[in-house]
Amino acid sequence: MNVILRRTGLVFGSLLLLVVLVAAGGFVASQRHIGRKYEIAPESIPIPTDSLSIARGRHLVRSISKCVDCHGENLAGTVMQESAAMGRWVPVNLTRGKGGVGSVLKDEDWVRAIRHGVGHDGRPLFIMPSVVYQNLSVGDLGEIIAYVKSVPPVDNELPPLTLGPVARGLIGSGKVTFFSVERIDHSKSARALAPAEGPTAEYGDYIVHTAGCAECHGPTLAGGKIDVGDPSWPPAANLTPSGLKAYDEAAFFTALRTGVRPGGSKINEAMPWRRTKEMTDDEIRAVWLYLKTVPPREFGAR
Ligand code: HEC
Ligand code: HEC
Repeated sequence: MNVILRRTGLVFGSLLLLVVLVAAGGFVASQRHIGRKYEIAPESIPIPTDSLSIARGRHLVRSISKCVDCHGENLAGTVMQESAAMGRWVPVNLTRGKGGVGSVLKDEDWVRAIRHGVGHDGRPLFIMPSVVYQNLSVGDLGEIIAYVKSVPPVDNELPPLTLGPVARGLIGSGKVTFFSVERIDHSKSARALAPAEGPTAEYGDYIVHTAGCAECHGPTLAGGKIDVGDPSWPPAANLTPSGLKAYDEAAFFTALRTGVRPGGSKINEAMPWRRTKEMTDDEIRAVWLYLKTVPPREFGAR
């Protein structure tokens, strides 16, 4: 009896040691990503102040770049998830109110955060999708910043971001990149001009690569598992011509505006149709025209 007990004790002891070692290994491996400091040369771009530009910035922030999905409808930040395994994920308060970074950030800090994924303190920003925003033109980026700077201050002091053991394990494994800064070529300067706004495939290409469609639906748009997403999400759909056979332009509008497919089934909320419904007619038509030009691929092909 004693021997068995001792043996099981030993087994448990070594298992516990193993768990501790794995956790410590994950911590060290993840710390290499989390603890890095980045120096990005300040980039100055024109930030407009006229009401037309600010209104367009609002449209981009809500319906194209979708900052509001994480930072909240009023951009005052929120705790987007909190668990022992994942930690506490906190898209910060962007306004000039109490607890907001709006009163701290200089124009070049906004550019560095949005385009490079680096905070004003040089930290890599966790899950901030700068890898998408790096494709924005100087004009659109300026309008986004103009709008964010103009929103009413909201007092909202949030607790700091923490990363739990599972999040750290994932970061340390290097399989999923949660820090946009690691995926961006920082030597490239911002795109000078966007294609002319209008219902053209060229403008659709620009939207697909600034609105996050290609981040979820994959670089070839053939769909499949979403790497940096909620594990409960279904795979993204195939948006190449072979995946959209049931669609015509009208059906595509219905999908993006109401979250309903041809045939009447509902599209999962992982697909941000509550945002895409606010896209303009020209924007939706442009995306539709662009999707018709991409090479057809099997579902999930990368
Ligand atoms: C997928 C969620 C998500 C989206 C979408 C998103 N952010 Fe963030 N953002 C975050 C998180 C989380 C942080 C805090 C990260 C950290 O502390 O490591 C953050 C941090 C920031 C910061 C902090 C900079 C600093 O110096 O502290 C700024 C500025 C910012 N976001 C602006 C924006 C703007 C503008 C948009 C839209 C163009 C946007 N974010 C879209 C999640 C998001
Ligand atoms: C945050 C991730 C995400 C982003 C961003 C995103 N999608 Fe999706 N999308 C999904 C997922 C997941 C599905 C599959 C939903 C389901 O299976 O019900 C989907 C489904 C769709 C469908 C329905 C296809 C069908 O018939 O099954 C269309 C159309 C679509 N997306 C277009 C777009 C376009 C255009 C954009 C960019 C403007 C975009 N999506 C951005 C995740 C995303």
